[in-house]
Amino acid sequence: MQNIKTRKITEDVTLITTLDKSTKKFEEIWEISSGINYNAYLVKDKNSYMLIDSTKNKFSEEFIETIRNIVKDNELKYIAVLHTEPDHSGTIRKLKEKFPKSKIISTRTASSFLKSMFSIETEVVKDGEEIKIDEKEVKVIELPWIHWPDTMMLFLKDERILFSSDAFGAFGARELVFDDEVKFEEYLKDVKSYFASVVSKYRQMILKDLEKINQLLDNVSVVAPAHGLVLKSRIKEIIRNYESWSKLESKKKITILYGSMYGITEEFVSEIKRYLEEKVNEVKVCNVAREELGSILSEVMDSYGIIIISPTYEGNLFPPMSYVLDLLSIKKLGNGKIVCAVATKLWGGVAPKQIQEKLSECGFSLLDKVYEFSNYPTKENLNLFLETVKKLVDIGK
Ligand code: FEO
Repeated sequence: MQNIKTRKITEDVTLITTLDKSTKKFEEIWEISSGINYNAYLVKDKNSYMLIDSTKNKFSEEFIETIRNIVKDNELKYIAVLHTEPDHSGTIRKLKEKFPKSKIISTRTASSFLKSMFSIETEVVKDGEEIKIDEKEVKVIELPWIHWPDTMMLFLKDERILFSSDAFGAFGARELVFDDEVKFEEYLKDVKSYFASVVSKYRQMILKDLEKINQLLDNVSVVAPAHGLVLKSRIKEIIRNYESWSKLESKKKITILYGSMYGITEEFVSEIKRYLEEKVNEVKVCNVAREELGSILSEVMDSYGIIIISPTYEGNLFPPMSYVLDLLSIKKLGNGKIVCAVATKLWGGVAPKQIQEKLSECGFSLLDKVYEFSNYPTKENLNLFLETVKKLVDIGK
């Protein structure tokens, strides 16, 4: 099966993208029902080439064959590793074996990672340094913590292309190449989900990095990320969204996170949703056991209010809810957001206490208390909980 596609994005720069439709979970955490692309780029100069990033180890053979067919008898002078996560560096050792004269370039941190991961040596490059392929110049921009500590971007000066590593990427395996080939609003959901899942943790560092990118921006005509589409017409829009997401800016939006083993808690959720829809601009409802985790996190990211409605499972918090709250805690996505919560039960347990502890770890502010109702909540239960939900609505006004 052919997994790798190539397409010129300018006369001398070729996108070599791996369409991975077989991986079900990115990083074995994030469901990716529509797959993902791993983008590498080959820059041609007079007599030699620079390769920027590569692909996962399992696609090595096809990837190396593709590179050989393009490079032919010319020299592959540089292999740039923008960061070392193995979705982009997995073939690096085999590449070095096939192209022994090529120099691998990376940041100092990436260099130490590559040594420990693959026992290979690299030439360390530094922020601001300019590398000549033959005549073309590539400038190094170190931007640590998008989303690993070892990250750099490269700026191809003549063609004004910024190779942005994981920044500004998206989930989804696509054969299309440019941002003007898709319905952008739909595509933005995949960018946002990718940001929430993969990039969001180090938001303060990203804001600093964006300042650096903004200084360059007037000179950039193309942004070429390591996942998703190549950006030409929507660069500023994506960057504006990155700024907003990094600041955890919220809309007048409430997201309900719920679980329901037999559909009973779901009926209670429907009542809350009906109440909110008349009072709030946007209400999202996420079943934590069924929806993609990236999508759940991205809904939380721009909501000011969250409502948690969870069953008790064998005396404990429903495990899928527990897992979602753990991920929100790792990504620090609770800061500044307000929560109403209820646990349903038949014979009791510690779910309310567990919710309260996890909300605190996530940085959420709890309104009133975590309610505990029978798993067949009564009209009185509903009215009691709606009093707290009403406070949440009023805060958003
Ligand atoms: Fe796409 Fe951080 O790897």
